[in-house]
Order: sequence, then C-alpha cells, then structure tokens
Amino acid sequence: MNLTEKRKDTIEQANHFIAQSKHQVNQQYRHQYHLMAPIGWINDPNGFIFFQGAYHLFYQYYPYDSQWGPMHWGHAKSTDMIHWEHLPVALAPDQWYDKDGCFSGSALEKDGLLYLMYTGHRIEEGKTYQTQCIATSKDGIHFEKLENNPVIGESILGKEGSIHDFRDPKVFVHGETYFAVVATKTEHDRGRILLFSSEDCINWQFYSVLLEGDASQGIMWECPDLFHLDGKDVLILSPIQIEKNGYEYHNISSTMACIGKMDWQTGKLEVETSHEIDFGLDFYAPQTTLGADNQRIMIAWMQMWARTLPTHVLGHRWAGSMTLPRTLHVRNGRLVQEPFAQIFDALNLQLNEEQIIVNEHPIVYRRVIEDNTYLRLVIQLNEAREFTFTLAGLQLSYSYDKEALTLSRENVGHVISGDEQPILTQRTIQTPLIEDCLTLEIFRDTSSIEVFISGQETITTTFYEEEKNKDLIFSATGNAIIQQLDIGQVIV
Ligand code: FRU
Repeated sequence: MNLTEKRKDTIEQANHFIAQSKHQVNQQYRHQYHLMAPIGWINDPNGFIFFQGAYHLFYQYYPYDSQWGPMHWGHAKSTDMIHWEHLPVALAPDQWYDKDGCFSGSALEKDGLLYLMYTGHRIEEGKTYQTQCIATSKDGIHFEKLENNPVIGESILGKEGSIHDFRDPKVFVHGETYFAVVATKTEHDRGRILLFSSEDCINWQFYSVLLEGDASQGIMWECPDLFHLDGKDVLILSPIQIEKNGYEYHNISSTMACIGKMDWQTGKLEVETSHEIDFGLDFYAPQTTLGADNQRIMIAWMQMWARTLPTHVLGHRWAGSMTLPRTLHVRNGRLVQEPFAQIFDALNLQLNEEQIIVNEHPIVYRRVIEDNTYLRLVIQLNEAREFTFTLAGLQLSYSYDKEALTLSRENVGHVISGDEQPILTQRTIQTPLIEDCLTLEIFRDTSSIEVFISGQETITTTFYEEEKNKDLIFSATGNAIIQQLDIGQVIV
C-alpha cells in the first residue's frame, strides 16, 4: 500500500493552486459559453450525469500545466450546460492504485449517492497498470474512494484483455443488473470492448467481450459508451490510429459509432452500421448521459491528441475545452446530432435576410462575425457547382458534384501540426443536399467552430486567429440562393 514518495497530489493542493493562480490565465482564446477549466489542461469529459436537478460534468484535469500530467477529475455543474459553475476538484491521484492518474470514467446514481467509476492508473518499473475503481458522494461534490478499490483488477480481467491498457469504464443499469463497458486491447493490438456485470455496483465479474476491432480499426479503443436509442443499441468509442476510409477517420485519434443490436444473453453487440461521429479536426472521447427529459445527450473533448496547442505554446496557461452538448438520435443507421435545445434560450438573433443570390462576385457582410456568433443558413444549390463562404478566416465550401462540405483552417492564425502527415488543415464530409438545400447551423466561440449540417452531422474544429477577421463573405460558381440567413450571438 505504499504510495511512492516522489509526489503526492491531493485535492486540497489542487484547489489551493487553482484559487491562487486562475487569474493568470490569458483570456485571448478563452471561450464564452463552452466549458473549460479555470486554469490548466483538460481532456475527456467524465462522469456526465443529471444529478439532484443539475448536469454534472467531470473532466480529465491537470491544473498545474497547460499540457497533460497526472490526471485529476475537475468538476462543474449547470442547469442549461451554457452557464457552468466550477466546483472543487473531485478526485486526485492519491492512492496506491491511482498514484499516476485518475483516468477517465463515468457516473451513476444509486441509493441517492453519486458513484464515480474511473480508472486507477499506476506505473511500476516502467510498466503501466490500469484497474477500475469507485468513489462515492452524498452531496455530489466531495467523494470518498472505496476501501476495497480497485473493484476490477487483474484477477477479474484475467486473459480477456491487457492490464496495461484497460480503462475508461462507462457504468449503467440494464434490467436489474449493473454493467460497465471498459476498453482494452488484444495481444495483437486490436481494440476490444469488455462488459462487466455486478449486482451491487461494487462486486464485479467479467461478462463478455462486447466487440473487437479488426486490424484496420486502430491499435487501441478508448472511452466506450453503450446505450439504447430509437430502437437500436449504440456503442460509441474512440479508436487510436484507425485507418482512413474515404472522408472518414483522418485524425490520428477518431471517434466511431457502432449501431446494431445487443444480445444480452451472450453480451455481444451485433453491429449493423458504423461511422465516424464528427468530421472536424478537434473532437474526441465523447460521453453521453440521459438528460432531464430522458433525451440522450453527448459532450466530447474539443481538442485532439498529438497536436501542437497554441494556448500551451503561447504560455496562456490553459488548454482544452468541451464541445457543446448535443442531443442524439439514430436515423437511417446513423447516429445524428442536434444542438442541445436549451442553447437556443441564450441566442440573440440580430439579422435575418432572405433570398440572397450568390454568384462569383463575392457578397461581403462587414464586421458581423463576433467571438460568440451564431449563424443559420439555408442555401439552395441546384444551379451552383460550388458554394463557398469564409468566416473568421475559416473557409467552408460545398461541392455540388461531390456532395461534400469542407471546412478548412488553413492559413488561419497559428499553425497547428500533429502526428498526421502531411499536416491536416481541413476535413470533408459527404452530405447530400436535402430538397436541393444545405442547412447549416454554426456556433463560433472565440477559438472554436461547431457546424451542424441539416440538424444531423457535425464538424468541430478549433482555430487560433492572430488578427480578428469579422467579415462574412459568400461566393459561388453558378447561382446559389441563400434562402435564409440568420445571424445572432450566444449570450451568457
Ligand atoms: C482518452 C484517454 C483515456 C484515458 C485518458 C487519460 O483521451 O487517453 O483513454 O483514460 O485519456 O487522460
């Protein structure tokens, strides 16, 4: 039970540091209505739950630097997921089994208590060991780790996966039984998702191999989540180095939805369709929960692994944020996303125009793009081959022939490079017109953009302008008609 002497992180120490240092954060690229930490680095959303009348979101957190370090769990709550209240750090790596990090996990309410199930990460003689652990809370703010942690360790895992890569439990109830999906890999470096079951959420046993990837589907899968939606069973996961497939999976780490049918007897998911969840450059490790109205809501980390991060490089003392919450549905074998409805309560519409004819002579709206701009466009395209617009330096263009929308951050402010070769500056999504129209809803928040296409597919990307470009410029090859243009702002 020895905690190595080199360091002992505590919740108190983290909270003290945050209170003392948060005013030193440089505000230049900070968001107005997306969740960020007060200071420091964040990655995955964790423990997303509606508990005692509010949405709680925890997150992978290293307060002391703007790059990844021994993971804590940061914590915030909100009733509308636009206005967030920061709460004290929930977990610190302070036990022998999590001494090198409290890695990703999830939350569940049981007998009035809030349960967090997370991965204890420890390094011994240069090797990582990952086990599943639980902490509980009465008030949803202060947590106690269980005496009998880890609750799923090497003996329960057995030969079903690798103890060195065994993480990110998502806990849920099905029927009378508690289940957790956990990510691991095979000895041949293929992603594998395991299912564990429990009668009391404390004593766990292996249940099944839920799903396994093939050689093209990445070297490890992370952050699984399994839920039933619109008559289907959906497994979402985040594969590392999944191979490109057409326009899909161009980032070094991707996200994937596997949609099909669960056989609860065998514990296997029979996958009918699968696809990438978001087609931007910065979207990873999504997690879902059931909302106040029983809707399925998803939030992801709005950043990408293995890329340069301007806010870190520039010494701004923060890095990473969460996407907007998105309400999910399954339609035609795809997991589709729309903005969480309460966001629209914060929307202030300022301009509304109709029937704007666009051709090769650019139409310029001067000084309309602010840090918190919202845009809605319905563009009729049947007489145009290509429709392009720029905002905040970003370029969005739709090709009628390819039926594809591209968002590029090339030449916008600070160059971001990564493990992708060559540097990835744009992504494209196949998205046919609906009744000759492309409908886009765009949420810009200082250094991020989220594009919702026809209320279904999304593109999420960060960008870091050096000089603010406030003009909105449209052009087309052939004639396009913007049937409707709404411009507003999300005000918090
Ligand atoms: C995904 C991930 C998880 C892990 C966590 C560590 O982004 O790698 O698999 O639990 O981040 O911070």
